[in-house]
Amino acid sequence: MPERAPDDALERSTNQWMAWGIGIMLVMALIFPVYRFFEPANREAAREAQLGFLAEQGADLFAGNCASCHGVEGTGGVAPALNSMQFLEASTDEQTAALISVGVPGSTMGAYSLDFGGSMTLEQIDAITTYLRSLEEFAPDFPDWRDPLGLTQGG
Ligand code: HEC
Repeated sequence: MPERAPDDALERSTNQWMAWGIGIMLVMALIFPVYRFFEPANREAAREAQLGFLAEQGADLFAGNCASCHGVEGTGGVAPALNSMQFLEASTDEQTAALISVGVPGSTMGAYSLDFGGSMTLEQIDAITTYLRSLEEFAPDFPDWRDPLGLTQGG
């Protein structure tokens, strides 16, 4: 059997393909960490946009359904001040949403969830809760949030 003459053209083409392969692998290996670097920021931005949108919806719902008792932007009235730092610290979002859903029996605070005879979906209640939470950043120091009119302070 005669030794096959080395095929220069084939060898060159093979080397070229290998070079391309290594190049593409390097690009992919580099893209991944870059992606990983930017991805959390993107996700955080999307989350914030989503929360901002919910809070805006909640603000509208609050103005239309709650402000008459709880005051414009939750500053209090015949019902507790919900923008109070102390209230927002005391109540988790879950607790606030649950209270809005079922209301406070024996008070004028009604049940808002459709499940309890109210008019709101859980999404709407969630939006209001998100809105109230958004007030926390500039919440005033207001330990007597349940008595915004100062009715129990006597004298
Ligand atoms: C008709 C008046 C009235 C309206 C309207 C009303 N509330 Fe209330 N709400 C009250 C009163 C009164 C209380 C205090 C009940 C109690 O603890 O005796 C209260 C309590 C609350 C509390 C608990 C506060 C605390 O001190 O723990 C939350 C949260 C709340 N309301 C949210 C809402 C939201 C959100 C809406 C609108 C969807 C709303 N309320 C509409 C009268 C009202």
